[in-house]
Amino acid sequence: MTKVVLAYSGGLDTSVAVRWLMDHYDLEVITLTVDLGGEIDLEATRQKALKVGAVEAHVVDAREEFVKDFVLPALQADALYEGIYPLATALARPLIAQKMVEVARRTGASLIAHGCTGKGNDQVRFDVATTALAPDLKVIAPIREWKMSREEEIEYAQKHDIEIPVGKASPYSTDENLWGRSIECGILEDANQEPPDDAYAWTVSPQAAPDEPCYLEIGFEAGVPVALNGKRLDLLPLVEELHRLARENGVGRIDAIENRLIGLKSREIYEAPAAVVLHAAHRAVEDMTLARDSLRFKESVRPTYADLIYNGLWFGALRRDLAAYVTSSQQHVTGSARLKLYKGSATVVGRQSPYSLYERDLATYGGGDIFDYSAAEGFIALWGLPLRTEARNQTAKELEVMPA
Ligand code: ARG
Repeated sequence: MTKVVLAYSGGLDTSVAVRWLMDHYDLEVITLTVDLGGEIDLEATRQKALKVGAVEAHVVDAREEFVKDFVLPALQADALYEGIYPLATALARPLIAQKMVEVARRTGASLIAHGCTGKGNDQVRFDVATTALAPDLKVIAPIREWKMSREEEIEYAQKHDIEIPVGKASPYSTDENLWGRSIECGILEDANQEPPDDAYAWTVSPQAAPDEPCYLEIGFEAGVPVALNGKRLDLLPLVEELHRLARENGVGRIDAIENRLIGLKSREIYEAPAAVVLHAAHRAVEDMTLARDSLRFKESVRPTYADLIYNGLWFGALRRDLAAYVTSSQQHVTGSARLKLYKGSATVVGRQSPYSLYERDLATYGGGDIFDYSAAEGFIALWGLPLRTEARNQTAKELEVMPA
């Protein structure tokens, strides 16, 4: 019998998908649940998959790989989609696709399936990442195909004895991992409405955050966060600890109108406490250690890198080539940034580096100034030479200032 590997979250959609793939395509379904730091009970999810009819149910904890191989390169590239979204969901998809392909290879499955709808970016990311890694595997998206309404889906679930989540269904569609949480649908679709408090599950509201600011110091070595408040930590626990501190202070709420790859604009709410803090801290150390031209060039790479992640091209050659440049750019990004978290904001209030290009003796207006003022005169004469020449020969008449 032909086998399919299905990305399984344990929710209603993917549970119904297990059954639907069996009935509709006559497939043996193998599920895979990947832990990327969302709050899921892996063993319960595995049992549930078997109960709804999967022949095998795999679970894998990929949190370490996620932070080291996906989150870190994006952080070092300062990759924020459209300048604002830290790309949590987008970064997770290529890794999940990679794990799916691994299971397919181990089990001899020839198909991959996922629970994405036909309207989002995730379907593209799964398909394209899978194609890049295993061009021979075919991808099925049951939810895009089955065209059941919510009511029909629930009826289908009841008919097949699939557990339906109890309680009032959340009005939102969410996705989460250790780098961030995305919230869509319901009232959030009214772009002019402030998100109600129940849209947020991680962050306290800035009004309810502590009245005392929380100060942090984040240490970096060659662009890698390595310490928090003077304590050395591996990347995963460091992100987890920052997550806790930032969410308690209401930091990391993002409200954006986003341009989806498939052509429409959508209103997106995110909670990304650790990402917001780490991006600010990383930039602060780069500001100290990268020269002006390096910063300008890196700034020009940034939107391209973010677009590649967002658009599902993680495994493409351009992303890999840019990653090599970004890694090389981080050689001296060593030092630390101090941040003040206060009622929803994360502000950089200090930074230092052993490789700092900021030299106080050069910058000071006080005593101990080593700046060579005599060099300024000649510099200005030559810097202004093209404009002086233009003025003499071309533009003097037009720009002339007449006496009043
Ligand atoms: N707009 C974000 C993105 O495209 C988040 C998508 C959330 N996905 C989801 N299945 N709820 O990356």
